[in-house]
Amino acid sequence: MNKIITVLPGDGIGPEVIKAAQKVLDTVAEKFSHQFTYLNAKIGGVAIDEEGTPLPQETIDLCKKSDGVLLGAVGGPKWDTLPGHMRPERGLLGIRKALELYANLRPVTAHKSLLDASTLKKEVIEGVDLMIVRELTGGLYFGQPQERRQENDGESVVDTLYYKNYEIERIIRQAFELARLRRKKVTSVDKANVLESSRVWREIAIAVHADYPDVELEHMLVDNAAMQLIRDPKQFDVVVTENMFGDILSDEASMLTGSLGMLPSASINGNGPGLYEPIHGSAPDIAGKNLANPLATILSVAMLLRYSFLMQEEADAVETAVSKVLEAGYRTGDIAEKGQPVLSTEEMTEKVIEHIQLAVTN
Ligand code: NAD
Ligand code: IPM
Ligand code: MN
Repeated sequence: MNKIITVLPGDGIGPEVIKAAQKVLDTVAEKFSHQFTYLNAKIGGVAIDEEGTPLPQETIDLCKKSDGVLLGAVGGPKWDTLPGHMRPERGLLGIRKALELYANLRPVTAHKSLLDASTLKKEVIEGVDLMIVRELTGGLYFGQPQERRQENDGESVVDTLYYKNYEIERIIRQAFELARLRRKKVTSVDKANVLESSRVWREIAIAVHADYPDVELEHMLVDNAAMQLIRDPKQFDVVVTENMFGDILSDEASMLTGSLGMLPSASINGNGPGLYEPIHGSAPDIAGKNLANPLATILSVAMLLRYSFLMQEEADAVETAVSKVLEAGYRTGDIAEKGQPVLSTEEMTEKVIEHIQLAVTN
């Protein structure tokens, strides 16, 4: 098959992990006789520096005409003092919105061979397999107004948590659909004891549940959910939640896998191109040093193959290669235990590629 992929490396370790991901894609193309055409585009800090905006129109146009988008990460200290609308992160929010990618899927899988890499006890994380379904184009991130104000009695500031009911309904529906293909349990996470938006979220979850009687629905307050994720993560199958709750809970959940550098994500809406990216950021502390763990981005490639290109066998090959590499004991710094040799980003990528080639020729 011939597919067009828009590639947005971004900032910090973004270009390093994207280079790794593209090498993996090249291997998949070669081994499975596909043709992937890459369109490179700018987003984030690099786009601010070169084009004066974090999301040039050309980038949006290229993404829209592609079959899938692969993104590294955006942001860094260089741009931290810019006003909100000019920050690199606004580029990422903008492309999610422009492509209407309301469903952000963040799978959390504890690899057997990485159980000791986690800061948590082995028996707590062994067998963890959950999916965070984060609402991605609404909620506190996008509600207006979002501004500083000068008022009679002093300065003030406002962010707004805003949802149209249909936006809540479609993400909850997505969660139920996914749960049907998994262990048939949805945990809807909210703050219904305080927020009106959460009370409506809960009402909608209950109403949508009527269409999915075969799936169990439970509600959980977000503060409790944060605690339960660490206490007993195996109780979760699909977790569906508001944009910012999902952002926070997914970074927390990444530690069940041993590292933030392990968690991939897919942002989709059922139509048009999806966007695939690691959940981690630009990691300025290790950028440019060939130290970043490329596996989150490589696993995002697997999600791209699976969800946007419907290439199940190819996606399996990538995921299996990652598991095998971990089983063989190869580690980047973030997942290495004391005494284990540490591979560079490029070396780790080569190991994954070797395993894809091996698997396919066998
Ligand atoms: P971060 O995710 O960049 O880094 C947090 C910690 O995890 C750092 O110690 C980093 O070294 C480590 N880490 C992250 N990814 C890693 C990898 N692949 N391999 C090994 N270690 C890894 O979060 P932060 O430091 O809070 O944010 C840095 C910048 O990234 C900020 O500008 C932020 O806005 C941006 N950010 C972007 C995205 C994105 O583009 N999707 C996501 C989160 C943060
Ligand atoms: C993520 C990031 C982004 C978010 C930022 C960089 C806008 O933290 O993808 O998780 O909060 O969505
Ligand atoms: Mn985040």
